[in-house]
Amino acid sequence: MDAMTKHETPDSAAKTDGQTAKKVFIKTYGCQMNVYDSQRMADALAADGYAATETIEEADLVLLNTCHIREKAAEKVYSELGRIRQLKKARATEGRETLVGVTGCVAQAEGSEIIRRAPVVDLVVGPQTYHRLPDVLARVRGGARVVETDYAIEDKFEHLPAPSRREVAKRGVTAFLTVQEGCDKFCTFCVVPYTRGSEISRPVSQIVAEAERLAAAGVREVTLLGQNVNAWHGEGPDGSEWGLGRLLFRLAEIPGIARLRYTTSHPRDMDDELINAHRDLETLMPYLHLPVQAGSDRILKAMNRRHSASDYIRLVERIRSARPDIALSGDFIVGFPGETDEDFEETLRLVREVGYASAFSFKYSPRPGTPGAEMGDQVPENVKDERLQRLQALLVEQQQAFTVAMVGRTMPTLLENRGGKGGKGAAPPPGPLL
Ligand code: SAH
Ligand code: SF4
Ligand code: F3S
Repeated sequence: MDAMTKHETPDSAAKTDGQTAKKVFIKTYGCQMNVYDSQRMADALAADGYAATETIEEADLVLLNTCHIREKAAEKVYSELGRIRQLKKARATEGRETLVGVTGCVAQAEGSEIIRRAPVVDLVVGPQTYHRLPDVLARVRGGARVVETDYAIEDKFEHLPAPSRREVAKRGVTAFLTVQEGCDKFCTFCVVPYTRGSEISRPVSQIVAEAERLAAAGVREVTLLGQNVNAWHGEGPDGSEWGLGRLLFRLAEIPGIARLRYTTSHPRDMDDELINAHRDLETLMPYLHLPVQAGSDRILKAMNRRHSASDYIRLVERIRSARPDIALSGDFIVGFPGETDEDFEETLRLVREVGYASAFSFKYSPRPGTPGAEMGDQVPENVKDERLQRLQALLVEQQQAFTVAMVGRTMPTLLENRGGKGGKGAAPPPGPLL
């Protein structure tokens, strides 16, 4: 029996004694990995007797699962903590205790500073120690304030309990599955290598077991997650080294899995096997998120992306010759230190050459502790604003062109939610989904 089966949360755990069962409210910021992590935390807490609630007012435990990627994302947490302070005070006058925790990337980056700045916080837990949440809560109930941000020696994934079948079904027909976590690339603008730690790949057996459980509970589309998901590698059952392409083929064999996706990829880790998976694997959706950040080689170098604009364009050509109908999306940063008008024009040129179906674009935000924040030649805010507007206008144009090109085409569809009263998260309709 594998670790996940052993730790399965009983269906009854979350509803032991109706009225008095403790409740947890988790608010999720940031990327898909945080969405996945929030679910795994909910699973760990269900095993500890906490039922999940979507109403903060009835929560005995409030967790903010935070993001540190840009200044705005990180600052949101403190304004939310201000509101929670009022709530905690109001509930205390009714004689009810509310525990407050900060998890995620702000927890990892700021640690005990959070408690200093926001005394309402009882616990701070970084992404590598979520399996220790029940133990942390026991210490908090004993009167301690706990900051748990060490990188655990034990494998958190082995120790996190799997959700019950009923819980998975409740979450819908699409699911995330983290296969890789952390980053060794150290782009000079980015906090992720510091908040998520160095790259780890989960073993094949663990991933397959989790995907099988999802499929058995009715999930039809699985999105594999990793900060550098295509750097995933592991030992296959035959003892050979597998890359993400091979893993996708293995997961596609699981009965019930109709669609696979993965995100986020780094251009340097797109190998032939993965590109071929886009050509040969029907289950792999014709979509790829492949961030490039900028179109100027000078800026790409300063960002430590370790590829040139033409490397990226050649890669896109190889991917498109394997899968001509692939929809590409990307991430862009405008106003990285030293970016001139000419550098920015090169970003626009790259966008025109590639053609994106969708994209995310951001103004550069200097992050404490990253090399970018220390660089001279920071770009003024008004210049960043103007560049962002121009870039977004072009991206929106491309997105509309993509949508228009879809008109009149017949495609298989995955029904994610029932309309009407059932709403989001309702059980999938019976019968074939695709
Ligand atoms: N691992 C992914 C990206 C994770 S962060 C990758 O390598 O592509 C998601 C996006 O946020 C990045 O692609 C980048 O476009 C943006 N981003 C990261 N740090 C930023 C910063 N300091 N300022 C503005 N945008 C940033
Ligand atoms: Fe950040 Fe770069 Fe790592 Fe992506 S590859 S997580 S942008 S450091
Ligand atoms: Fe944000 Fe951490 Fe994800 S910084 S983008 S929540 S990895």
